[in-house]
This record gives sequence, structure tokens and C-alpha cells, in this order.
Amino acid sequence: MSVEDRPEHAEDVIELLVGQHMLIRDLFAEVQTATGEHRAEAFARLVHLLAVHETAEEEVVHPLARRGIDGGEQVVEDRLHEEREAKEALVRLEGMDLGSEEFDAALALLRDSVLQHAHYEEAYEFRHLRGRYDQDRLETLAAQVRMAEKAAPTHPHPGNETAVKNLTVGPVLAVFDRVRDAMRGGGSQGG
Ligand SMILES: [Fe+2]
Ligand SMILES: [Fe+2]
Repeated sequence: MSVEDRPEHAEDVIELLVGQHMLIRDLFAEVQTATGEHRAEAFARLVHLLAVHETAEEEVVHPLARRGIDGGEQVVEDRLHEEREAKEALVRLEGMDLGSEEFDAALALLRDSVLQHAHYEEAYEFRHLRGRYDQDRLETLAAQVRMAEKAAPTHPHPGNETAVKNLTVGPVLAVFDRVRDAMRGGGSQGG
């Protein structure tokens, strides 16, 4: 969803991803305040959004930053490292009781590192992409990301009873793998 309608200017990839950073922040807050089934459902949406968002960055945006911006190699390595750590933290969360203090503490740590990661992307990567590529290119990339995200499977809806204590998102890594496979199959044409 775009914040404002500007007829002469379609949403570009940076606006799209920064908008998703805000959604991710809001969704962490939703998981933190929700309880029971609602928490399980919100967490499933968070896992799905993170899978789609980070995979789109890894498939579409990081490769461009790696070649296109000064020091891109190191900037992208650092971001990939943070993304791997977040994925591992999600896997650990998946094994926890959603109503436990352990989950609350791990979720808070993950939230802080994911938001820090998003800040680094905006400051060290996206800002430089805007300087390096013209508006048309950035808008085309947004279209690629949207197409890739459409190819990704939709997030599963937890059933009513099973959702309370255990996560029903399925293994986190499988969600990431499915999203990546879908993007490689469905989002690679065009560009
Ligand atoms: Fe990222
Ligand atoms: Fe991001």
C-alpha cells in the first residue's frame, strides 16, 4: 500500500521495502501484546512477512547493492549475516511455548535485532541505491519484488485448537525455502 498517490511517480523498491519495515515493526508489537490464538496467528503472519521480505531483498536488492554501491560487497555480507541470525532466532522461537516468558524474552531480542538490521539497510544500502540507480530502475525493481512476493505461498492460517500453544506456521526454514523457491520460479522473468 502506498502512503500517498503521486500520479507521476509509482512506488519504488526503496519505498516498498521501507514500508515493509514499518509493517514488520507493527507486527512485532502485535505479537508482543496478543495472547493465545491471536498471538499464534500474528506470529504466523510475522514469520511469513519476514520470509517474504528478507527473501525479496536477498533475491532482488542485495545483488544490486553488492555490485552497485561503494563497499557493497561488505555492506551486503553484513546484512546477509544479520538475516541468517534472524532466521536462526525464528527457528528457536518456533520451539518455544508461545505463552512463556522465554518466548517473550527471545521475541524482544529478535525484534531489536531485526529493527536494527532494517535501520542499517536503510542507512547503508537503500540510501546509496537511490543515489546509484535512476527512478525508473527503482520502480521496475519494485514491480519485480511485488511479482516475486505474489509468487510466494500465502501464510497458513492456524487451526483453532492447535494454535494456542504450538506454532502452526510449520518449520520456519521450510517457510523461507518455499518462499525462495516460489520467487526463483515466479519472479525471475523480466529484468
Ligand atoms: Fe533484510
Ligand atoms: Fe529489510
